[in-house]
Amino acid sequence: MKMLKIAVLGSVLLSFAFGAKAISDTELGLRNVPLNNEEKVKLQDFKYGDKAPGESKVFDRAYENAPPMIPHDVEGLTDFTQNTNACLDCHSPEVAKDMGALPVPKSHRYDLRNAKAITDGISDSRWNCTQCHAPQAQLKPLVGNNFKPEYRNKKSKNNSNLLEVINEGVK
Ligand code: HEC
Ligand code: HEC
Repeated sequence: MKMLKIAVLGSVLLSFAFGAKAISDTELGLRNVPLNNEEKVKLQDFKYGDKAPGESKVFDRAYENAPPMIPHDVEGLTDFTQNTNACLDCHSPEVAKDMGALPVPKSHRYDLRNAKAITDGISDSRWNCTQCHAPQAQLKPLVGNNFKPEYRNKKSKNNSNLLEVINEGVK
C-alpha cells in the first residue's frame, strides 16, 4: 500500500514537471502548423522527372528487392482502368525487350494467395503499378538518412528476384 502511494505521488509530481513544458501542436512534426488545420501547410516546390521513357536514367534501388522508383515521365500513364494499363504497354514480358524496358518480375505474375503461377497477364494485386512504384522529385530531404543497403550479389543491385527468395528462412 505504501509503495502504491509513493508511486501515485511520484507520477503526479512527474506530470507537473512535464506539464510545465507542454509542447504546442505547431511544434510537433515537421510542418510547423496546427495539427487540426492544414491551411498553412507549405509544400516545397517539386517536379517529377520529365524525361520520356527510354531517355531517363534508372535510380539506385533502395535495398535488395525494393520496388524500383520510376525514373521517367508518367504524365498520362497513370489512369488505370479495369481494362487498360499503359505501363504494361512497355513493361509486360511479351514486349519489354523490344521497348528497351525491364519486364515485370515473376512475383507480378504469381497469385500468392493461391500459390499459383499466372500465365495470362499479371496478378490483380499488381495492376495498380503506382501503388508501389512512384516517380521521384529532386528535393532536399527534411530528415537526413544514412541508411546504406547491402546487396548479397551484384545482380540484385538492379534486378529483383523476390519470388525466388520469398520463402527464405521459412520451413
Ligand atoms: C513507352 C514505354 C514505357 C511506358 C509506357 C512505361 N515505362 Fe517504365 N520504363 C521504360 C523504360 C525504357 C525504362 C528504362 C529507363 C529509361 O530508359 O527511361 C523504364 C523504367 C521503369 C522503372 C525503373 C526500373 C529500374 O530498373 O529501376 C520502373 C519502376 C518503371 N519504368 C515503371 C513504370 C510504370 C509504373 C509505368 C506506368 C505508370 C511505366 N513504367 C510506363 C519504358 C516505359
Ligand atoms: C504491391 C506492390 C507492387 C505493385 C502493385 C507493382 N509492383 Fe512492380 N515491384 C514491386 C516490388 C516489391 C518489386 C521488387 C521485388 C520483386 O517483386 O521481384 C517490383 C519490381 C518491379 C520491376 C523490376 C523488375 C526487375 O527485374 O528488377 C518492374 C519493371 C516492375 N516492378 C514494374 C511494375 C509494373 C509495370 C506494375 C504494374 C503493372 C507493377 N510493377 C506493380 C512491387 C509492386
